[in-house]
Amino acid sequence: MARRKKIYEGKAKILYEGPEPGTFVQYFKDDATAYNAEKRDVIEGKGVLNNRLSEFFMTGLNHIGVPTHFLKRINMREQLIRSVEIIPLEVIVRNFAAGTISKRLGLEEGTALPRPIVEFCYKDDALGDPLVSEEHIIAFGWASQQDMDDMVALALRVNDYMSGLMYGVGIKLVDFKIEIGRVWEGDYQRLIIADEISPDSCRLWDIETGQKLDKDVFRRDLGNLTDAYTEVARRLGVMPANATHMPKPTLIN
Ligand code: C5P
Repeated sequence: MARRKKIYEGKAKILYEGPEPGTFVQYFKDDATAYNAEKRDVIEGKGVLNNRLSEFFMTGLNHIGVPTHFLKRINMREQLIRSVEIIPLEVIVRNFAAGTISKRLGLEEGTALPRPIVEFCYKDDALGDPLVSEEHIIAFGWASQQDMDDMVALALRVNDYMSGLMYGVGIKLVDFKIEIGRVWEGDYQRLIIADEISPDSCRLWDIETGQKLDKDVFRRDLGNLTDAYTEVARRLGVMPANATHMPKPTLIN
């Protein structure tokens, strides 16, 4: 049997060549890393949850006209995506202070920001993904001025969509990170949302209790990560109400 070609292996996902040109298969691993992979573990079931949650968010975005790379889910851990040329930036949107902005600017975690703040980090593990400005991005040619405008517009649309969706299930979207890629349609380039949107890349706090339902549970040793992600999935109706994270893969359609 022919072995499929691995294109890239990251910390939480593997990309394989897709069945047709212009497609990849994205496989979600159970590996969890934090602090630039200084802290690592394998969290059983995380990949299954993130595959389902990313499918859910990206399908919704596709439906409201925010283009994403998501084409379809293949199985519990894999989805078919459009191949894109990733812009080497992490685009972060913050509604409330937490994490690095709290440290950097001395803001208490949970402080409401005057408006959503969009930040860019240069994707480079060896450098620890440093925060960069528009000046750096344009001067080093990572993206053009037009790309910058398009990226900010896309990021803010994702923020409005995700904030509303989460508010509806009693969750506050504190911040999130997306990655954006280029696709070519004829002679035209278009930017679309790529990578994943999941509790690995968002901060999600219960509105009533403030309980953290995201990767900070792992980063800060606050409890069981799969329980937190399962709760997000349950509230959104992505998993049936009685589903807990199964020790063995269990197909939930
Ligand atoms: O760590 P920081 O506060 O800058 O993170 C902001 C948001 O971006 C958080 O939701 C975090 O989960 C996400 N993030 C990420 N991948 C990174 C850095 C941050 O998903 N490499």
